[in-house]
Amino acid sequence: MNDALGQPQSVLVLGGGSDIARALTRRLVAARARTVVVAGRPGSPTVAAAAVEAANGGASVRTVEFDATDPPSVAAAVDRAFAGGDIDLVVVAFGVLGDQTDAEADPLRAVETATVNYTAAVVAGLAAATQLRRQGHGTLLALSSVAGVRVRRANFVYGSSKAGMDGFFQGLGDALAGTGARVVIVRPGFVRDRMTEGMQAPPLATDPDTVAEAVVRGLASGTDVVYVPGVLRWVAAVFRHLPHALWRKVPA
Ligand SMILES: NC(=O)c1ccc[n+]([C@@H]2O[C@H](COP(=O)([O-])OP(=O)(O)OC[C@H]3O[C@@H](n4cnc5c(N)ncnc54)[C@H](OP(=O)(O)O)[C@@H]3O)[C@@H](O)[C@H]2O)c1
Repeated sequence: MNDALGQPQSVLVLGGGSDIARALTRRLVAARARTVVVAGRPGSPTVAAAAVEAANGGASVRTVEFDATDPPSVAAAVDRAFAGGDIDLVVVAFGVLGDQTDAEADPLRAVETATVNYTAAVVAGLAAATQLRRQGHGTLLALSSVAGVRVRRANFVYGSSKAGMDGFFQGLGDALAGTGARVVIVRPGFVRDRMTEGMQAPPLATDPDTVAEAVVRGLASGTDVVYVPGVLRWVAAVFRHLPHALWRKVPA
């Protein structure tokens, strides 16, 4: 159960090696998370590093393996994580940006993006929801993206996968109403980290620590959706309603 201050004491991070997830886990451990299950690809150095960070912060740490290109392994990882005891917070952090140009040249290059970002996220969400319903408490936090609010020509393969997963988690949140469990969706804009390395940062670009800080605040506030930075909520609202002819002209 969350402690008296509403902080999660046990956390499962699916995609625990992600830069954003690591920044978040460090904060959660500093704020008293006692048990952390770091889940990610077998042999991933970033997953190992995340586990060491959480242990150094004083948490009891377990690692669980899965590969999001193999959706059954995602469900199995969630079940293995919960077999160790109740979990207050499940973070769905895995994802790939993919290469839009490659995907347009060879449709099969889009499969990994679609599978990891959408199919595996759906499996993770449903498997975690089953466990949270059984517990009668807990939060499912999904790392979506502003890219999914209105899909852009420049990255429509990634954007559509995030739009799909975002819509899925909205519906899952509705399905969990009244069960004691809830869903929080995080929509960061461009984050300067491993995923965007080498790309030119647009205005309002942020960093993993800022995302983590906003998520911790969002978890405490009881909100369903966290935009990072917060001003993107209003930018996204404008984007959502721009006429199509204008939207096409918005620079990449
Ligand atoms: N960076 C941004 O600008 C941005 C903006 C909005 C939303 N997001 C979303 O935030 C989430 C975290 O991304 P990030 O920025 O922290 O980037 P990141 O550091 O590249 O994290 C992505 C994570 O996904 C994991 N992953 C990729 N393919 C996987 C697979 N087949 N099986 C299991 N795990 C897999 C990676 O594992 P390894 O550690 O083993 O490589 C990595 O830990 C993603 O869902 C991303 O779409 C990112």
